[in-house]
Amino acid sequence: MATDLRQAATIVRENAHAPYSKFHVGAALRTRDGQMFVGCNVENAAYPEGTCAEAGAIAAMVAAGARELAEVYVIADSDMPVAPCGGCRQKLAEFGAGDVPVTMATVEGTEQLTTIAELLPGAFDAGFMER
Ligand code: THU
Repeated sequence: MATDLRQAATIVRENAHAPYSKFHVGAALRTRDGQMFVGCNVENAAYPEGTCAEAGAIAAMVAAGARELAEVYVIADSDMPVAPCGGCRQKLAEFGAGDVPVTMATVEGTEQLTTIAELLPGAFDAGFMER
């Protein structure tokens, strides 16, 4: 199911700019209308300015005019499948329903399947501001 996402995330990971952490991450996502977008982490000498792979893929999606996540894949060279950071969980929740599948993976091939809701239970969303 996510074979093409895995392939795209693996390839874009090669472009990660991670001279500080040396931790290269690739992300690929599919939108509900079938488009695919990719992103890699882009670090900065001013460390807080760095951005995650997921953030890059989401930015590419939004820039292209798409909004709705259908599937997400994240890959890194880690012992355990890479866990999106807290900020990226919130970013994913902005554009995807709770049941959207997220595959976390290692370059060796271990995969862990989860969902946006599992990654961020009780997420703050726009609904809280409707009153
Ligand atoms: N990183 C990501 O790009 N995505 C994740 O899911 C986890 C962490 C990046 C941020 C930073 O460039 C490096 O990995 C180390 O934290």
